[in-house]
Amino acid sequence: MEDRSRRRNVRDRRGGDLSHIQGGLGKATGEKIDVTCFDCGNPFEATNLGIATARLCFDCGTKREEQTALLERLAREKAEEQRYRELVRLANVPPRWRAVTFDTLDPNIQPVAQKVARAYAHGFSKESPSLVLYSPGNGTGKTTLGYCIVNLLLHELRVPVVARKARDVMLEIRNTFSDREQTEAAVLDKVSYVDLLFLDDVGVDPPSRWIHSTYWTLMDRRFDWELPVVITTNKPFEGRGEVLADRIGEGAASRLLGLCGGNVIDMSGEDLR
Ligand SMILES: Nc1ncnc2c1ncn2[C@@H]1O[C@H](COP(=O)(O)OP(=O)(O)OP(=O)(O)O)[C@@H](O)[C@H]1O
Ligand SMILES: [Mg+2]
Ligand SMILES: [Zn+2]
Repeated sequence: MEDRSRRRNVRDRRGGDLSHIQGGLGKATGEKIDVTCFDCGNPFEATNLGIATARLCFDCGTKREEQTALLERLAREKAEEQRYRELVRLANVPPRWRAVTFDTLDPNIQPVAQKVARAYAHGFSKESPSLVLYSPGNGTGKTTLGYCIVNLLLHELRVPVVARKARDVMLEIRNTFSDREQTEAAVLDKVSYVDLLFLDDVGVDPPSRWIHSTYWTLMDRRFDWELPVVITTNKPFEGRGEVLADRIGEGAASRLLGLCGGNVIDMSGEDLR
């Protein structure tokens, strides 16, 4: 109140004519001078700091600061929203798996695997080890748990993740031979450097030199860049029958083993389909 009445006095005293100040700007004297507020036109008292002299009264200055802060917040929110939309696009989660989350699971199915996967997702960083979801049989919930991890990283932690069927990655790379728009290198780049790569059904493709060398390149890059993968597979790392190395090659399997450091969840169980 006191402040307002003082300002009114200033205006009364000067009769609103403060044009003499404009000429004085540029010479900082440190004296108190009367200035016309640039926004509301009311006079107020300011210290003469030359061209740095306040141009806005206290109320208008506060209002402008609030407006600037609001605009900055909205811009940040918009940028964050755009980034999130871009992450969702990049992740490429198929419709069937978009709504799958840890909270939608039956807690009695594969409870131990659920616990490990949940802890893995919540504690995820680019430095996390890789994770293998393995069962020799079908329909035990591997893909389901994989997408629970992917969806939590994507929607809650907003981490860049790419989710693909291993076979689709292979097919896409192979198709680049007939597709002039996309090169093999470009397809590989998309899956090589993302924070988390989820590869579903690793080892379904019958082995060939080409499959081995493509897996080798992919796993070698993840290994060199120390970036984790989460995979599902029906093939074990070792055993009497066919092993993962038979399908994806020794080099790729050994890098994958190095990345996951024994972090393999055995999800053997009954077929839930
Ligand atoms: N914890 C769970 N709670 C409820 N339903 C589940 C759970 N885990 C898996 N299911 C259901 O079981 C079925 C099989 O799961 P999923 O496809 O994940 O198995 P999979 O191990 O990936 O099989 P495959 O080896 O054939 O790829 C799906 O219909 C899935 O919805
Ligand atoms: Mg599956
Ligand atoms: Zn003002």
